[in-house]
Amino acid sequence: MMAASGVARAQDAPVPGTAVPEKTGRQIYSYLCSHCHGFNMVNPGTSSYDLRRFPVDQQERFVTSVMNGKNTMPAWGGELTADELDKLWDYIRSRGKS
Ligand code: HEC
Repeated sequence: MMAASGVARAQDAPVPGTAVPEKTGRQIYSYLCSHCHGFNMVNPGTSSYDLRRFPVDQQERFVTSVMNGKNTMPAWGGELTADELDKLWDYIRSRGKS
């Protein structure tokens, strides 16, 4: 229910003894990137860069652009941990298949 969003509910609490699943690259992408770059990296036809064409041998460029932003793309440095950035890179490198 929308009205309950943002409110911590008992059923959202981790069950003792079970590991809290970490977010995958795909999930991080869906949450932070897909509204501009398209669901499953399929570019929605807006002006955003088509990530399926990002050169897979340019990880450093990826990190710099994502952490610092580029032109109209916001900077994500404050949002992402190094681990999440690695997972995103794996996802983008896989062309959305991982
Ligand atoms: C508000 C819309 C928006 C969101 C959200 C967004 N981007 Fe972008 N992104 C853009 C635009 C626009 C460009 C093209 C920038 C340019 O070259 O002018 C771009 C470009 C890029 C590029 C190419 C940069 C380069 O070096 O050419 C990468 C990589 C990228 N985005 C990754 C991501 C990732 C990963 C996320 C999620 C963490 C994300 N973007 C979220 C709008 C967005």
